[in-house]
Amino acid sequence: MKLTVVGGGSTYTPELVDGIAGRRTSLAVDEIVLVDPDEHRLGIVGPFSRRLLEHAGHPAKVRTTTSLEEGVEGAAAVLLQLRVGGQKARASDETFPLACGCVGQETTGAGGLAKALRTVPVVLDIADEVRRIAGPDTWIVNFTNPVGIVTRALLQAGHRAIGLCNVAITFQRWTSALLGVDPSTVELEHVGLNHLTWERGVLVDGVDRLPELLADHVEGLAEHIGIDGALMRRLNMVPSYYLNYFYNHDAVLQKQLGSPPRAEVVAAVEEELLDIYRDPSVVTKPDQLGQRGGAYYSEAAVQLVHALTGGAGAERHVVNVRNNGALPFLPDDAVVEVSSTVDSSGGVPLPVRPVEPAISGLISHVTAYEHLALEAAVRGGRDRVANALLAHPLIGQHAIADRLADELIAQNRDLLPWV
Ligand code: G6P
Ligand code: MN
Ligand code: MN
Repeated sequence: MKLTVVGGGSTYTPELVDGIAGRRTSLAVDEIVLVDPDEHRLGIVGPFSRRLLEHAGHPAKVRTTTSLEEGVEGAAAVLLQLRVGGQKARASDETFPLACGCVGQETTGAGGLAKALRTVPVVLDIADEVRRIAGPDTWIVNFTNPVGIVTRALLQAGHRAIGLCNVAITFQRWTSALLGVDPSTVELEHVGLNHLTWERGVLVDGVDRLPELLADHVEGLAEHIGIDGALMRRLNMVPSYYLNYFYNHDAVLQKQLGSPPRAEVVAAVEEELLDIYRDPSVVTKPDQLGQRGGAYYSEAAVQLVHALTGGAGAERHVVNVRNNGALPFLPDDAVVEVSSTVDSSGGVPLPVRPVEPAISGLISHVTAYEHLALEAAVRGGRDRVANALLAHPLIGQHAIADRLADELIAQNRDLLPWV
């Protein structure tokens, strides 16, 4: 099968290619096409990807192109992993909210809205091309952040899309290590929205081991997640580390005020990675990739593409899909991130136990924000931006929402189609 990666010049691509190289028996890829507007990046990441495959003895060909049309022709699945405006725009997202006393993050709060506004129009154009050229049955697997809003945009426009994030698979790996079991035996009861999730059960061979994790391994979890173990015990759930921006908002803000934005750190790691990728003697995935947040992303992606292209029969995966009543307190067209059954017809949420009020309010609140964020991204307009910010639980005040809206638009002037 042919697999197309849009944003293929990303320094993450070798992670994905490494995943494909190591899973030859489970995913029969014979061509990987990297599409990116940045020829320079393609000229480094493309040849390195070829070396990774060759070294692994994998027969797949790697092609690079700046032409989306050429890249998606005949693709079985198209993976979206792009970043409109690059790390420079990310640095802006991570800093402009700080002056208003709000956390600066690329997917949460005002920074996340800025990213959504830049990204949704670009992704919708790409998806239209995929539908036109590769056909309406081609799966679009979206890793592009903010994954929840971008996936909702794709589904609302009628595309065959599913959203993916590595938070769940990373948690699965941590807990299987803590419990001393094989990761493939661990099934999560994962609930919420992208980057706003909780683990309510950790089933190993059908037995819920979450009580044991909270009793015996809570320090290990707290170390990974940054959230107090006592709080996890009280909630009787394990929040993802993105809940830090809510549960520890002011402490995170204080820390951010005294340190460089993550975008700067990542830009430095990327420079280092590109130097390594350029070295013709390097034929395996470098350790430095582990300094990025995307651990296990390749495994999640390979497993998901396998299920979507009909290789597996029905499998259980954590994905971003249309709610359709899974969380009855949310609209059907909201996109939720939940444990789901996935096969070639897509993902269907598994039944969800009634959600505790301790988290259902926050989930509802952020869902309403995401609805307004998408309105602003698709229709544009300063007041729509301000409305979305006002509805965000981390903002919520009129004067601050208005000030952030003006600042967001000023900083993203060249990347917003309606400005
Ligand atoms: C996690 C999240 C991704 C996010 C990444 C950021 O993997 O699930 O959605 O893109 O972290 O990692 P970075 O190294 O770019 O800060
Ligand atoms: Mn993610
Ligand atoms: Mn403009």
